[in-house]
Amino acid sequence: MLSTGTEKKIDLTPGDDGTPTHVAIIMDGNGRWAKQRRLPRVAGHKKGADAVRECVRACGELGISYLTLYAFSSENWKRSEEEVDDLMGLLRHYLRHEIEALNRNNVRLRCIGGRERLSSDIVELMTHAEERTARNTGLTLILALNYGAQAEIVEAARRLAAKAAAGEVKPEEIDETMFAAHLQTADFPDPDIIIRTSGEKRLSNFLLWQAAYAELIFIDDYWPDFTKETLLKALAEFGLRERRYGARLG
Ligand code: IPE
Ligand code: IPE
Ligand code: MG
Repeated sequence: MLSTGTEKKIDLTPGDDGTPTHVAIIMDGNGRWAKQRRLPRVAGHKKGADAVRECVRACGELGISYLTLYAFSSENWKRSEEEVDDLMGLLRHYLRHEIEALNRNNVRLRCIGGRERLSSDIVELMTHAEERTARNTGLTLILALNYGAQAEIVEAARRLAAKAAAGEVKPEEIDETMFAAHLQTADFPDPDIIIRTSGEKRLSNFLLWQAAYAELIFIDDYWPDFTKETLLKALAEFGLRERRYGARLG
Protein backbone atom coordinates (compact mmCIF):
# COMPACT_ATOMS: atom_id res chain seq x y z
CA MET A 1 0.00 0.00 0.00
CA LEU A 2 2.83 2.40 0.77
CA SER A 3 5.53 2.97 -1.78
CA THR A 4 8.84 4.41 -0.72
CA GLY A 5 10.68 7.32 -2.27
CA THR A 6 9.48 10.84 -2.82
CA GLU A 7 6.44 9.88 -4.88
CA LYS A 8 4.48 8.52 -1.96
CA LYS A 9 1.25 6.74 -2.82
CA ILE A 10 -1.21 5.99 -0.09
CA ASP A 11 -4.34 3.94 -0.56
CA LEU A 12 -7.16 5.83 1.12
CA THR A 13 -9.74 3.13 0.71
CA PRO A 14 -10.43 0.92 3.69
CA GLY A 15 -10.48 -2.87 3.39
CA ASP A 16 -13.09 -4.43 1.08
CA ASP A 17 -14.94 -5.88 4.05
CA GLY A 18 -15.59 -2.37 5.40
CA THR A 19 -12.92 -2.59 8.09
CA PRO A 20 -11.07 0.72 8.23
CA THR A 21 -7.35 0.61 7.53
CA HIS A 22 -6.55 3.32 10.06
CA VAL A 23 -8.45 4.07 13.26
CA ALA A 24 -7.48 7.14 15.29
CA ILE A 25 -8.80 7.82 18.79
CA ILE A 26 -8.96 10.90 21.00
CA MET A 27 -9.03 9.15 24.36
CA ASP A 28 -10.96 11.64 26.47
CA GLY A 29 -12.83 11.59 29.77
CA ASN A 30 -10.39 9.99 32.22
CA GLY A 31 -10.79 12.87 34.68
CA ARG A 32 -14.59 12.84 34.54
CA TRP A 33 -14.62 9.05 34.94
CA ALA A 34 -12.61 9.46 38.15
CA LYS A 35 -14.68 12.40 39.39
CA GLN A 36 -17.87 10.40 38.94
CA ARG A 37 -16.39 7.85 41.36
CA ARG A 38 -14.92 10.46 43.73
CA LEU A 39 -11.45 9.20 42.86
CA PRO A 40 -8.34 11.27 42.08
CA ARG A 41 -7.83 12.03 38.37
CA VAL A 42 -4.85 9.68 38.26
CA ALA A 43 -7.20 6.76 38.92
CA GLY A 44 -8.96 7.63 35.66
CA HIS A 45 -5.67 7.76 33.80
CA LYS A 46 -4.70 4.34 35.21
CA LYS A 47 -7.99 2.81 34.16
CA GLY A 48 -7.49 4.57 30.82
CA ALA A 49 -4.20 2.71 30.36
CA ASP A 50 -6.10 -0.58 30.81
CA ALA A 51 -8.51 0.55 28.10
CA VAL A 52 -5.52 1.21 25.83
CA ARG A 53 -4.41 -2.41 26.29
CA GLU A 54 -7.87 -3.72 25.46
CA CYS A 55 -8.20 -1.42 22.46
CA VAL A 56 -4.82 -2.42 21.01
CA ARG A 57 -5.68 -6.09 21.42
CA ALA A 58 -9.09 -5.61 19.81
CA CYS A 59 -7.65 -3.73 16.82
CA GLY A 60 -5.13 -6.55 16.29
CA GLU A 61 -7.90 -9.14 16.42
CA LEU A 62 -10.04 -7.16 13.96
CA GLY A 63 -7.24 -6.90 11.42
CA ILE A 64 -6.94 -3.12 11.58
CA SER A 65 -3.58 -2.03 10.14
CA TYR A 66 -3.03 1.30 11.94
CA LEU A 67 -4.22 2.62 15.30
CA THR A 68 -3.28 6.13 16.37
CA LEU A 69 -3.93 7.04 20.01
CA TYR A 70 -3.85 10.64 21.22
CA ALA A 71 -2.15 10.12 24.58
CA PHE A 72 -0.82 13.60 25.43
CA SER A 73 -1.34 16.83 23.52
CA SER A 74 1.11 19.68 23.26
CA GLU A 75 -1.46 21.69 25.24
CA ASN A 76 -1.68 19.14 28.07
CA TRP A 77 1.45 20.69 29.66
CA LYS A 78 -0.96 23.37 30.90
CA ARG A 79 -2.30 20.91 33.49
CA SER A 80 -1.05 20.82 37.08
CA GLU A 81 2.50 19.61 37.61
CA GLU A 82 1.12 16.71 39.61
CA GLU A 83 -1.15 15.53 36.78
CA VAL A 84 1.59 15.91 34.15
CA ASP A 85 3.93 13.86 36.39
CA ASP A 86 1.25 11.18 36.81
CA LEU A 87 0.68 11.00 33.05
CA MET A 88 4.42 10.83 32.32
CA GLY A 89 4.78 8.11 34.99
CA LEU A 90 2.06 6.04 33.34
CA LEU A 91 3.63 6.55 29.94
CA ARG A 92 7.00 5.43 31.30
CA HIS A 93 5.36 2.36 32.81
CA TYR A 94 3.57 1.53 29.55
CA LEU A 95 6.73 1.86 27.46
CA ARG A 96 8.72 -0.26 29.95
CA HIS A 97 6.24 -3.01 30.58
CA GLU A 98 4.09 -3.37 27.49
CA ILE A 99 6.76 -3.59 24.82
CA GLU A 100 7.38 -7.31 25.13
CA ALA A 101 3.66 -8.02 24.97
CA LEU A 102 3.34 -5.75 21.91
CA ASN A 103 6.29 -7.52 20.35
CA ARG A 104 4.79 -10.96 20.97
CA ASN A 105 1.60 -9.77 19.32
CA ASN A 106 3.51 -8.59 16.22
CA VAL A 107 2.63 -4.92 16.92
CA ARG A 108 4.92 -2.23 15.52
CA LEU A 109 5.10 0.89 17.69
CA ARG A 110 5.71 4.37 16.33
CA CYS A 111 5.52 7.72 18.13
CA ILE A 112 4.56 11.11 16.74
CA GLY A 113 4.81 14.49 18.47
CA GLY A 114 7.65 16.71 19.63
CA ARG A 115 10.36 14.92 21.59
CA GLU A 116 12.23 18.00 22.82
CA ARG A 117 10.04 18.66 25.85
CA LEU A 118 9.81 15.03 27.00
CA SER A 119 12.33 13.84 29.57
CA SER A 120 15.35 12.06 28.13
CA ASP A 121 14.56 8.69 29.71
CA ILE A 122 11.11 8.70 28.09
CA VAL A 123 12.62 9.58 24.71
CA GLU A 124 15.07 6.67 25.14
CA LEU A 125 12.23 4.29 26.00
CA MET A 126 10.28 5.50 22.93
CA THR A 127 13.26 5.04 20.62
CA HIS A 128 14.04 1.62 22.09
CA ALA A 129 10.41 0.50 21.71
CA GLU A 130 10.30 1.68 18.09
CA GLU A 131 13.52 -0.14 17.28
CA ARG A 132 12.52 -3.31 19.15
CA THR A 133 9.22 -3.59 17.26
CA ALA A 134 10.36 -2.20 13.89
CA ARG A 135 10.27 -5.51 12.05
CA ASN A 136 6.80 -6.52 13.22
CA THR A 137 4.19 -6.85 10.50
CA GLY A 138 0.88 -6.74 12.39
CA LEU A 139 -0.89 -3.68 13.75
CA THR A 140 1.06 -0.40 13.65
CA LEU A 141 0.34 1.42 16.92
CA ILE A 142 1.07 5.13 16.65
CA LEU A 143 1.24 6.97 19.97
CA ALA A 144 0.75 10.72 19.74
CA LEU A 145 2.80 12.11 22.64
CA ASN A 146 3.31 15.81 23.10
CA TYR A 147 1.56 16.01 19.75
CA GLY A 148 -0.03 19.10 18.24
CA ALA A 149 -1.20 19.17 14.62
CA GLN A 150 -0.59 22.88 14.10
CA ALA A 151 3.04 22.52 15.21
CA GLU A 152 3.40 19.48 12.96
CA ILE A 153 2.10 21.47 9.97
CA VAL A 154 4.34 24.46 10.76
CA GLU A 155 7.36 22.13 11.01
CA ALA A 156 6.56 20.62 7.59
CA ALA A 157 6.24 24.14 6.12
CA ARG A 158 9.55 25.09 7.68
CA ARG A 159 11.32 22.04 6.24
CA LEU A 160 9.91 22.74 2.78
CA ALA A 161 10.85 26.42 3.03
CA ALA A 162 14.41 25.42 3.93
CA LYS A 163 14.54 23.07 0.92
CA ALA A 164 13.18 25.82 -1.32
CA ALA A 165 15.73 28.31 0.03
CA ALA A 166 18.50 25.77 -0.65
CA GLY A 167 17.20 25.30 -4.21
CA GLU A 168 16.28 21.64 -3.58
CA VAL A 169 12.60 22.14 -4.45
CA LYS A 170 10.82 24.76 -6.51
CA PRO A 171 7.90 26.45 -4.67
CA GLU A 172 5.55 25.55 -7.54
CA GLU A 173 6.46 21.86 -7.13
CA ILE A 174 5.02 21.82 -3.62
CA ASP A 175 1.68 20.03 -3.68
CA GLU A 176 -0.44 18.08 -1.21
CA THR A 177 1.53 14.86 -1.74
CA MET A 178 4.87 16.53 -1.14
CA PHE A 179 3.51 18.41 1.86
CA ALA A 180 2.08 15.22 3.42
CA ALA A 181 5.45 13.52 2.93
CA HIS A 182 6.96 16.14 5.26
CA LEU A 183 4.51 15.50 8.10
CA GLN A 184 5.38 13.14 10.93
CA THR A 185 2.71 10.79 9.61
CA ALA A 186 4.42 10.47 6.20
CA ASP A 187 4.70 6.68 6.57
CA PHE A 188 1.04 6.12 7.38
CA PRO A 189 -2.22 6.42 5.43
CA ASP A 190 -4.69 9.05 6.66
CA PRO A 191 -7.17 7.84 9.29
CA ASP A 192 -10.47 6.53 7.91
CA ILE A 193 -12.18 7.12 11.22
CA ILE A 194 -11.50 9.38 14.18
CA ILE A 195 -13.27 8.41 17.37
CA ARG A 196 -13.56 10.77 20.35
CA THR A 197 -14.91 9.52 23.64
CA SER A 198 -16.54 11.47 26.51
CA GLY A 199 -19.11 13.37 24.45
CA GLU A 200 -16.80 16.26 23.47
CA LYS A 201 -17.12 17.13 19.80
CA ARG A 202 -13.88 18.73 18.71
CA LEU A 203 -10.49 17.69 17.36
CA SER A 204 -8.34 19.49 19.97
CA ASN A 205 -5.37 19.91 17.59
CA PHE A 206 -5.30 16.22 16.56
CA LEU A 207 -4.33 15.21 12.99
CA LEU A 208 -5.84 18.35 11.44
CA TRP A 209 -4.30 17.77 8.01
CA GLN A 210 -4.84 14.00 8.01
CA ALA A 211 -8.48 14.30 9.13
CA ALA A 212 -9.54 15.84 5.79
CA TYR A 213 -11.79 12.90 4.85
CA ALA A 214 -11.96 10.94 8.07
CA GLU A 215 -15.36 9.96 9.40
CA LEU A 216 -15.77 11.54 12.83
CA ILE A 217 -17.48 9.42 15.44
CA PHE A 218 -18.31 10.82 18.86
CA ILE A 219 -19.08 8.46 21.72
CA ASP A 220 -20.54 9.49 25.07
CA ASP A 221 -18.65 6.88 27.13
CA TYR A 222 -15.59 8.03 29.02
CA TRP A 223 -12.32 6.53 27.78
CA PRO A 224 -11.75 4.23 30.81
CA ASP A 225 -15.04 2.49 29.95
CA PHE A 226 -13.98 1.85 26.35
CA THR A 227 -14.13 -1.85 25.43
CA LYS A 228 -14.02 -3.99 22.31
CA GLU A 229 -17.83 -3.63 22.16
CA THR A 230 -17.50 0.17 22.08
CA LEU A 231 -15.04 -0.16 19.20
CA LEU A 232 -17.33 -2.56 17.35
CA LYS A 233 -20.22 -0.10 17.71
CA ALA A 234 -18.08 2.72 16.31
CA LEU A 235 -16.97 0.50 13.42
CA ALA A 236 -20.59 -0.42 12.72
CA GLU A 237 -21.47 3.28 12.50
CA PHE A 238 -18.48 3.80 10.22
CA GLY A 239 -19.81 0.99 8.00
CA LEU A 240 -23.06 2.92 7.53
CA ARG A 241 -21.36 6.12 6.41
CA GLU A 242 -21.10 6.87 2.70
CA ARG A 243 -17.70 8.30 1.92
CA ARG A 244 -17.77 10.52 -1.13
CA TYR A 245 -14.44 12.37 -1.17
CA GLY A 246 -16.17 15.30 -2.84
CA ALA A 247 -17.61 13.23 -5.68
CA ARG A 248 -21.29 12.44 -6.24
CA LEU A 249 -22.02 8.78 -5.93
CA GLY A 250 -25.05 6.99 -7.36
C1 IPE B 1 -7.96 12.25 28.60
O1 IPE B 1 -8.75 12.46 29.71
C2 IPE B 1 -6.50 12.03 28.96
C3 IPE B 1 -5.61 13.12 28.54
C4 IPE B 1 -5.99 14.21 27.94
C5 IPE B 1 -4.21 12.96 28.82
P1 IPE B 1 -8.86 13.88 30.43
O2 IPE B 1 -7.80 13.95 31.47
O3 IPE B 1 -8.85 14.97 29.43
O4 IPE B 1 -10.28 13.75 31.11
P2 IPE B 1 -11.38 14.88 31.27
O5 IPE B 1 -11.62 15.46 29.91
O6 IPE B 1 -10.83 15.89 32.23
O7 IPE B 1 -12.56 14.15 31.81
C1 IPE C 1 -7.38 15.96 23.97
O1 IPE C 1 -8.10 15.94 25.16
C2 IPE C 1 -6.00 15.42 24.20
C3 IPE C 1 -5.92 13.99 24.50
C4 IPE C 1 -6.93 13.16 24.54
C5 IPE C 1 -4.59 13.49 24.74
P1 IPE C 1 -8.19 17.23 26.11
O2 IPE C 1 -9.06 16.84 27.23
O3 IPE C 1 -6.82 17.71 26.44
O4 IPE C 1 -8.87 18.29 25.14
P2 IPE C 1 -9.73 19.59 25.47
O5 IPE C 1 -8.91 20.42 26.40
O6 IPE C 1 -10.99 19.13 26.11
O7 IPE C 1 -9.98 20.22 24.15
MG1 MG D 1 -10.32 15.93 28.43
